[in-house]
Amino acid sequence: MNRSESVLASAVEAIGNTPLVELARLTKGLDGRILAKMEYLNPGLSKKDRIARQIIEEAETQGALKPGQTVVELTSGNTGTGLAIVCAVRAYPFVAVMSRGNSMERVRMMSALGAEVVLVDQLPGSKPGQVSGGDLELVEREAKRIVKERNAFRADQFHLESNVRAHYLRTAQEVIRQTKGAFDAFCDFVGTGGSFAGCAAAFKEYAPTIRCFLVEPAGAAVLAGKRVTNANHRIQGGGYSMEHLPLLRREHIDGYVQVADEEAIQTARKLAREEGIFAGLSSGANVAAALQLLRGSCKGKTVLVLLNDSGLKYLSTDLWE
Ligand SMILES: Cc1ncc(COP(=O)(O)O)c(C=O)c1O
Repeated sequence: MNRSESVLASAVEAIGNTPLVELARLTKGLDGRILAKMEYLNPGLSKKDRIARQIIEEAETQGALKPGQTVVELTSGNTGTGLAIVCAVRAYPFVAVMSRGNSMERVRMMSALGAEVVLVDQLPGSKPGQVSGGDLELVEREAKRIVKERNAFRADQFHLESNVRAHYLRTAQEVIRQTKGAFDAFCDFVGTGGSFAGCAAAFKEYAPTIRCFLVEPAGAAVLAGKRVTNANHRIQGGGYSMEHLPLLRREHIDGYVQVADEEAIQTARKLAREEGIFAGLSSGANVAAALQLLRGSCKGKTVLVLLNDSGLKYLSTDLWE
């Protein structure tokens, strides 16, 4: 059912069923189309609301999460915001553990939603706004410590298959319904790899000819087998230079695309000015990758992307001039 057609029991039920729009202005003069799913319209202003709901509901069903038990997760802000929403509605205390390198809007939003936010200092030499795999290891250590200390449930987005299922069961099925299957390729900037894994699995099951491309920051494209020359890129939410992502399946990957910081920034700005879409940096990266594909191996095709989070989450950064 469309979420606008009934009274919902809570904000949790308002997660998902996001619109799909064609970026016809950005592709003017190019041979091909880009279809973009507006995930930034979710209640927590990102696609990660979906996995928060799936992780908590599956943990409740399996008995892994007891009534009133504390929930803990490492986050770049978006999963934490999703979990803060679900935990507020279902009355679980929630602790978000985050690197100080992520933007402060995220901290304030999670706190407003009732989360306890624990900030972890970055490695010496790391820059704010540029969270590396090394910075994330420090956050992981602190998350593990808090889970033990509070006997908490870890909503482990890098390992739990419910992350993949959120996208396999919902995001991808919505896209197939919205497009009636009329698209040729999908490209996605990878953090945990949950969105890519869930969507790619569902798309290939629906039509094995749909090609799925993994998007990484230029200079930190380890999954494409390249050497890391710039671990401190600016695209928040992914590109952590982790060679092994437990949720990814190699057989779903048809190719790799690299996007430079500046390309992601300029594309996010163009999305706002030309398409009226106020989305964040990784959305800019996804659209920049789709544009690269239309100029290359996907000429004449229709490429699908997710618009991961809202531009509001970057107001304190220099993304918006
Ligand atoms: C803004 C943003 N973009 C992209 C991603 C990557 O998504 P996934 O973890 O599904 O690979 C995340 C994940 O947190 C994110 O917050």
